[in-house]
Amino acid sequence: DHSAARDAVTRLTRWADDFPQPGVRFADLTPVFSDADGFRVIVDALAACAPETDVIAAVDARGFLLGGGVARDLGSGVVAVRKSGKLPPPVLSQSYTLEYGTATLEIPAGSIGLDGRSVLVVDDVLATGGTLDATARLVESAGARVIGIAVVLEIAALGGRERLGKYPLTSLVTV
Ligand code: PRP
Ligand code: MG
Repeated sequence: DHSAARDAVTRLTRWADDFPQPGVRFADLTPVFSDADGFRVIVDALAACAPETDVIAAVDARGFLLGGGVARDLGSGVVAVRKSGKLPPPVLSQSYTLEYGTATLEIPAGSIGLDGRSVLVVDDVLATGGTLDATARLVESAGARVIGIAVVLEIAALGGRERLGKYPLTSLVTV
């Protein structure tokens, strides 16, 4: 039951029209995270998605906050999935398409013990699904099994759920 989390997100999310470009309505969850009750209920709800998780994969940047909290709740480890250029080699990389151009996500290669582990991928927002699809592939390329993807907010019109069809997906709130 995600009702407490849903209430917090509905009450506290800051919506910005025409950001970062005209026609886009940007969901800023900062006020949800800054509220003690809001942060607790969303982290608890995300943690309930996959209680048998070995490692949380938390997506740069706002996913880091959530992923650390969820990992602490579950007693699992946490891996920061970084935007390119932040980690020293060797790294595993996965590029993905943005509306304009491409971006790349990276994790350390070999040294983080993901082989054969069960991973829950955590981020704040699911839009087109490009970020989470790349993250799931990256985690799989390290030999782990993606047992689920959990986000706070899903923007349904952008088709992310369809793009991530092969993975169990939980969103606390769908708009
Ligand atoms: C936002 C959001 C998700 C992603 C969703 O991150 O935090 O990670 O976009 O979009 P998608 O489903 O179309 O891939 P952003 O790349 O803006 O970076 P940030 O988290 O570092 O702010
Ligand atoms: Mg992000």
